[in-house]
Amino acid sequence: MLVPDLKGQVALVTGGNRGIGRSVALALARQGATVCITGRNRETLASTAEELQAASPDSFWMACDVRDEKQQQAVFQEILKRHLRLDICVANAGEAALATATRTTLEDWRRDIDTNLTGLFITTTESLRIMMRRKSGYIIGIVSKAGTTAFVARASYCASKWGARGFLKCLAMEAEKSNVKVTALCPASVATDFQKNNPKGTDWMMASETVADAVLYLLSLEKNAYIDEWLISVWIKPEKPNPDQPSLIKPPG
Ligand SMILES: NC(=O)c1ccc[n+]([C@@H]2O[C@H](COP(=O)([O-])OP(=O)(O)OC[C@H]3O[C@@H](n4cnc5c(N)ncnc54)[C@H](OP(=O)(O)O)[C@@H]3O)[C@@H](O)[C@H]2O)c1
Repeated sequence: MLVPDLKGQVALVTGGNRGIGRSVALALARQGATVCITGRNRETLASTAEELQAASPDSFWMACDVRDEKQQQAVFQEILKRHLRLDICVANAGEAALATATRTTLEDWRRDIDTNLTGLFITTTESLRIMMRRKSGYIIGIVSKAGTTAFVARASYCASKWGARGFLKCLAMEAEKSNVKVTALCPASVATDFQKNNPKGTDWMMASETVADAVLYLLSLEKNAYIDEWLISVWIKPEKPNPDQPSLIKPPG
């Protein structure tokens, strides 16, 4: 696999304390990047930051709820105060309500939209403003297969992820003028806490390290190549029913 040399680069990973974000942050740190991880849980932030520092001593954590613009601004200020630059942004923090459209409460809806869409909007736009100054950088939004198709019991989650994917396309068009690449990375099911209540278990799901490998691959692409969207599916032997098959919602008529 191609691996990028990230020495001297500074990265932000939201939701970097556990799950996919933790695997991505560790992969970036092992390639030499200084990584700032954010999330709400200080205990897991501190323990993951310790692992990061073993590979990349200047890596650090900050508690930040991505739904709060002021908290996000404080993270960017701290990154610039310490390192004067930001090269890589992985907008990963996410939540998912488990409910069909008619059973989704307004509270569920707001949590998914505020975290997965508005939170990503704040993270990625501020990252781009900073990267525009140096005319280089890479922004990766961890979207989901749920941003490319419908899952009947993930109504608000699908809405937030389709929105995130659409927004990232607009951001990418603006970013290219500043030599900043933007990718919507869309994994199917990944074995993390996120899936802990999945009735089909998690053995068949991909590992969070696979998503981290995909991030490294994107960062290692030569300057004339670009992947704007990347759907990573779960591979199930054909004779088995695919538990990841979405129930497509057909439009009326
Ligand atoms: N697992 C999957 O099957 C799968 C598939 C495709 C895409 N994804 C996406 O991948 C991303 C990471 O998911 P995961 O599987 O790693 O889930 P996870 O293990 O549940 O981790 C979620 C991460 O997001 C953070 N987070 C949640 N709400 C937040 C908020 N309001 N502010 C700041 N941080 C917040 C959590 O940290 P705190 O709790 O400390 O805040 C945690 O670090 C999400 O965007 C998810 O939609 C997951």
